[in-house]
Amino acid sequence: MPPSPKTPLPPYFGIDPAAAGAKLSPQIDTARFAKAASFAAKGRDDLAKRGYAPDGKKRLRKFSTWEICKYLIPVASGHFRRVLRTHPDLPQGTGEGGTKWFTLEEVLALRGHFAAEGAAGKEYQPWRPEGLPAKVIAVANFKGGVGKTSTAAHLAMSAALDGYRVLVIDLDSQGSMTSIMGGDVKDEWQTAFPLIAKDYARAVQAENTVRVAEGIAPLPFDETLTEASTISARDVIQSTHWPNIDLIGAQLNLYWAEFQVPVWRMALRSWALWDGLTNALTDEGILNDYDIVLLDTPPALGYLTINALAAADILLVPLGASFLEFDSTGRFFDMLYSTFASIEDGVNAVNRRDGLPEMKFEWDAVRALITRFDANQQTDLANVIQAYFGDFMTTYRQEMTAMVGQAGEQVNGIYEADYRDFNRDTYTRGRETFDRTWAEVKEVLLGTWWRDQQMAEKG
Ligand SMILES: Nc1ncnc2c1ncn2[C@@H]1O[C@H](COP(=O)(O)OP(=O)(O)OP(=O)(O)O)[C@@H](O)[C@H]1O
Ligand SMILES: [Mg+2]
Repeated sequence: MPPSPKTPLPPYFGIDPAAAGAKLSPQIDTARFAKAASFAAKGRDDLAKRGYAPDGKKRLRKFSTWEICKYLIPVASGHFRRVLRTHPDLPQGTGEGGTKWFTLEEVLALRGHFAAEGAAGKEYQPWRPEGLPAKVIAVANFKGGVGKTSTAAHLAMSAALDGYRVLVIDLDSQGSMTSIMGGDVKDEWQTAFPLIAKDYARAVQAENTVRVAEGIAPLPFDETLTEASTISARDVIQSTHWPNIDLIGAQLNLYWAEFQVPVWRMALRSWALWDGLTNALTDEGILNDYDIVLLDTPPALGYLTINALAAADILLVPLGASFLEFDSTGRFFDMLYSTFASIEDGVNAVNRRDGLPEMKFEWDAVRALITRFDANQQTDLANVIQAYFGDFMTTYRQEMTAMVGQAGEQVNGIYEADYRDFNRDTYTRGRETFDRTWAEVKEVLLGTWWRDQQMAEKG
């Protein structure tokens, strides 16, 4: 009988252990990672030289007359041209033919002119109550890839186009937001890390004054704390290619904070490890320099995220309309509850003992936001999610758009893309979805400012 034709076995059969052993390199020690990193760094430079990496300097594109009149200043293009003709001192734009192009600085100057001279009753400048501090908006969800950074970056840009002064703080050591903003961050000393270190340093100094007076050995005050004490929040703020967006950037070393913060807390139990960022923003008046502070957080409920949430007035929680993202967002809210409730319990136990008033965390508003929405596939699921989250959720769903994917590869935002590079429909829809996201958030923002103003007036 002829042997039956053999069907080849799948590739995971017939592996010879001895041959496999011979293929291995010796055991890996930690130093090997340093070698891998140094090779990768060489490779990175090589790729950068071949033009694979952006040159690092970002420039904001210009805005056309069409775009200004359609999206930025509520004025008809005929009138816009007439105003420019009669005011030769105003920016005239550059470019041949009918369409002129303006830098954002120029757009902001033009908007200022219309606000001062234009028709009354038109909203040339966005509303903001005078004398009240910036609103802090944190974008967080411990689930990865839900659209936190895309949402935060686009909100920052829409707010800037509207004319608000924006500070973006990247708390994710992956640094995606920092690259979108063209930030340059050499080490952890140019991130939010020293701000939190400074807060701890101050707590240690206060504690040590007491200890010395009582003749107890003081807590150690090392080089990091000495250096952090000299830093101000303004030292770590950098400007960006957007005239009205500033940045506190991030890079890998920022992750060190996740190890350092609990060690500090162990050394000094009374240090409020969640308050460092809040104190950095309030103590030096940073909140008076801006209208909006946007915090992008890492996909984890670590100490940096806790600092962001504690500093936030408004919390945005992006999630996709999928079972997994809904499920994990539910658990994120649960973790927020237990984390902040346990902080409150701990502090209040001490406060009650010392006869101090109890503390309570409070947010002006919390909104879950559906991102990357595909109406053909996800409407049912989104409706269910909507029903369960109720007023914790915006009714708007940020659509999936090819523009973010495409723009994402060059690490750009939709607002940075030149509309002439896209098919008209793709552009209009992509832009509209992020314009509407901004409109939703702006409504919450204005509402909370309004409420604060009413309360301030009542005293
Ligand atoms: N509206 C959208 N349309 C299409 N793609 C999108 C949209 N929003 C986000 N994306 C894409 O989804 C991916 C994840 O988005 P993003 O980086 O904003 O999420 P993230 O929550 O910040 O992730 P991480 O948890 O890693 O920080 C990115 O590739 C981004 O380009
Ligand atoms: Mg992100």
